[in-house]
Amino acid sequence: INITKAEYIASAVESSQFPEEKLRQIAFIGRSNVGKSSLINSLTRFHNLARVSGQPGKTQTINFFKLTAKYYKDATTKDFYLVDLPGYGYAKTGQDKRKKWAVFIEKYFLFPQDLYCVCQLIDIRHEPMPSDVKMFNWLIEHDIPVFVIATKADKIGKGTVAKNISRIKKALNVRELTILPYSSTKNEGRSYLLDFIGQALVE
Ligand code: GTP
Ligand code: MG
Repeated sequence: INITKAEYIASAVESSQFPEEKLRQIAFIGRSNVGKSSLINSLTRFHNLARVSGQPGKTQTINFFKLTAKYYKDATTKDFYLVDLPGYGYAKTGQDKRKKWAVFIEKYFLFPQDLYCVCQLIDIRHEPMPSDVKMFNWLIEHDIPVFVIATKADKIGKGTVAKNISRIKKALNVRELTILPYSSTKNEGRSYLLDFIGQALVE
């Protein structure tokens, strides 16, 4: 597929603000600063779609983007939502805010909607944090399909990619899992993820 249209729809701080139009959703979650917003921009090639920042904790709301996918094969199109979720695990976040985050995110996941999967982003450079493992397990326990993406792959040498991917698998305690290395600056992993989404929209 190719993304032919991408528009920002809404930022929600409560479930009443979720969009009314029922479209298939693909959500992105991960620690603050892991590169969620950058990935959304690279994927869509609409570079100012999601706000990117060097400061962690930039995205504080649940942001919905409506995208149009066009299939190469027969030029048919399909609309769907990409959902940019606020990051977790930011050290400076107070206990209170953390709790609010958890309640709100849970509301999103348990809200009746056509959520196809959650892409969980983990920085390829580091050992997954306890918060990453917790998030992953929570999704699995709630029967929410997870697709793990290892971000910032351009920041490590080619030879280290496989080793670091195994380290993530080990920390998540999964052997049979496809983890996609991704680089938003080099658009690495982009065509794989687009194929995955193309498939997700017709299933
Ligand atoms: P929050 O909204 O705070 O949760 O962060 P986020 O996960 O949306 O991260 P964001 O996309 O804002 O990126 C954080 C920082 O990492 C920015 O300085 C980006 O430029 C940088 N970054 C993101 N992805 C990549 C990547 O693939 N390669 C490199 N080199 N830098 C990246
Ligand atoms: Mg963000």
